[in-house]
Amino acid sequence: MQKLSELDSLQTSGSKFRVLLGLTGSVAALKAPLLVRQLLEFPEVDVRVVTTDHATHFYDISEVPVRAYTDKDEWEMWTKRCDPVLHIELRRWADLFVIAPLDANTLGKIASGICDNLLTCVVRAWDTNRPLLFCPAMNTAMWNHPITAQQVASLKSFGYIEIPCISKKLVCGDEGKGGMAEVSTIVDTVKQYFQKPAV
Ligand SMILES: Cc1cc2nc3c(=O)[nH]c(=O)nc-3n(C[C@H](O)[C@H](O)[C@H](O)COP(=O)(O)O)c2cc1C
Repeated sequence: MQKLSELDSLQTSGSKFRVLLGLTGSVAALKAPLLVRQLLEFPEVDVRVVTTDHATHFYDISEVPVRAYTDKDEWEMWTKRCDPVLHIELRRWADLFVIAPLDANTLGKIASGICDNLLTCVVRAWDTNRPLLFCPAMNTAMWNHPITAQQVASLKSFGYIEIPCISKKLVCGDEGKGGMAEVSTIVDTVKQYFQKPAV
């Protein structure tokens, strides 16, 4: 019953533009409730969240006003042949995937094709004709490591779109690049995909 109602909820967005928000284990995930609320201000948008377990350390999942899927959901939903496979249902459901924040760990995993949790399985199964936006967020020292630029370039070579990080005083006290883009910048970028200018 639970499985069926979950699946139903992934089939009931009507004609809305479906935004899947991915959250990874950066402190910037604390902005998740705000980001979801701002996206929901657009009546033509529906939102679901897919979160890593580490991301849930930084925000209260009960404060996210939409369904947030975890690794536990992925494994509980499938018990036998013909059961829905959550990461495939989510990639079918979504018109756009925005990963905000994208931490260094998941950046590295996506760059090399690793898919060991729900979020990275959605990415691995993603239809590259649909937009995938990513918002890196990490400590400045991590950002400055030469592997970061290589991995960001790999993601761009797959057709994914970077919403660049910003320079700021980070939560750890360091100052410099690595802060996640502002929520308003992320919302404005997503908006471009469902509010196309009239021709
Ligand atoms: C307090 C704290 C803050 C962290 N902030 C960040 C961050 O902003 N960016 C980042 O790349 N990693 C950060 N990390 C490390 C990630 O949480 C860690 O690499 C984790 O394994 C990521 O898992 P995930 O990619 O599956 O979410 C932080 C860890 C802690 C304990």
